[in-house]
Amino acid sequence: MKAIVFDAFGGTEVLHEAEIAIPQPGPGQVRVRVQAVGVNPVDGKIRSGVMEAIFPTTLPAVPGGELAGVVDAVGEGVDDLKVGDEVLGWSDTGSYAQYALAPAAVLAPKPVGLEWTNAAALPVASDGAERVLDLLDVTSGEALLIHGASGALGTIAVQLAVARGARVIGTAGPANQEYLTSLGATALVYGDDLVHRVRELAPEGVDAVFDAAGKGALEDSIILRGTTDRIVTTADFRARELGIIFAEGPQRRSAARLAELAQEVADGKLVTTLSATYPLAEAAKAQQASDAGHSRGKIVLTVN
Ligand SMILES: NC(=O)c1ccc[n+]([C@@H]2O[C@H](COP(=O)([O-])OP(=O)(O)OC[C@H]3O[C@@H](n4cnc5c(N)ncnc54)[C@H](OP(=O)(O)O)[C@@H]3O)[C@@H](O)[C@H]2O)c1
Repeated sequence: MKAIVFDAFGGTEVLHEAEIAIPQPGPGQVRVRVQAVGVNPVDGKIRSGVMEAIFPTTLPAVPGGELAGVVDAVGEGVDDLKVGDEVLGWSDTGSYAQYALAPAAVLAPKPVGLEWTNAAALPVASDGAERVLDLLDVTSGEALLIHGASGALGTIAVQLAVARGARVIGTAGPANQEYLTSLGATALVYGDDLVHRVRELAPEGVDAVFDAAGKGALEDSIILRGTTDRIVTTADFRARELGIIFAEGPQRRSAARLAELAQEVADGKLVTTLSATYPLAEAAKAQQASDAGHSRGKIVLTVN
C-alpha cells in the first residue's frame, strides 16, 4: 500500500511516499481503508523531533493520529464492528496511508451524509476542545477567552462553549474576525494591548482562558484572570513555569461522544471548517500549511 513515511526527523522534506506492507489487525483492532485524514500540528511537531522527549517515535514512521474510512478487516475479539462499516476515530499506527489500524473501541460510526473530509476533521479537535472546556469547568453565563479561536481546536471549542451557554471572546488574525463571529464568538484581533481590549469587551473580567495558540498570551491571560486558576493551554510549553495547566494527554478518545458530535456535524448543528484538503501524495504541502499556523479550521488529506 501507499503511505507517507519519514525516516529522519526534520522539515517537511523528510516526508515521502513509500510502498509498505498492509498492516494486519491484532486483537481488538480493525483495519480501516482510509478515505480522509485529519492533519494536526502535532504531526509536524513529531516529524521535527521536538516531541521526542515526551513521546519518542520509532523511525521509519507513518504520521497521523486520526482518520475516517471503511472497516476492511477485523481482529480477534472485535464484535461490534464488521467489514464495510464506515467509521471515524483514532489510529495508533499512522493514518497517512491507504490502510491503517485502529482500536475498535475508539471508532465511531460515520453518520450517513457526513462527508469523509468533515468526519476526519473531528476526532482530535473535538476531544481536545471538550477536554479543555471540562478542565476549565466552563458553565452557562461565564465569559471564556479563547486564544487561537479560528484554528481546528478553536473552531470546535467556540461552538461547544457557546452551546454550554458561555460568552466567548475569541482571538484570531484580521482575516478571521468575521469567521469567529459566525461561530458565535465575540471576535478580537490578537497582538498588542490585548489586556486592555479584552477588558473593554468584558469589564467584569473573564472567568476562564483557553489558550489554543501557544503564541505568548499566557502572561496577559494571568493579568486578565488575576490568578493562574482556570487558564489552560494546549500549545505553550512554558505553562509549567508560569503555573498554568498544560492539557497534555491522554486523550479521552470516547467513541460514544465522537458519535454524538459526528451526528451534530451531519445535522448541521456543529461546524468543522476545512481550511484546505490535499491528496495523500501532497502530505508535505499539507504539513507545511499546518506548520505555518494560520489554518482556518482543519487541514485534511484525501486518500483512495
Ligand atoms: N495537548 C493536547 O491535547 C492538544 C490537542 C490538540 C491540539 N493541541 C495543540 O493545540 C494547538 C492548536 O491546535 P489546532 O489544531 O487548533 O491548530 P491550528 O488549527 O493550526 O491553529 C491555527 C490557528 O491559530 C491562530 N493563530 C495563529 N497565531 C495566533 C496568535 N498569535 N494568537 C492567536 N491565534 C493565533 C490562527 O489564526 P490566524 O490564521 O487568524 O492567524 C489559526 O486560525 C496546537 O499547538 C496543537 O498542537 C494540543
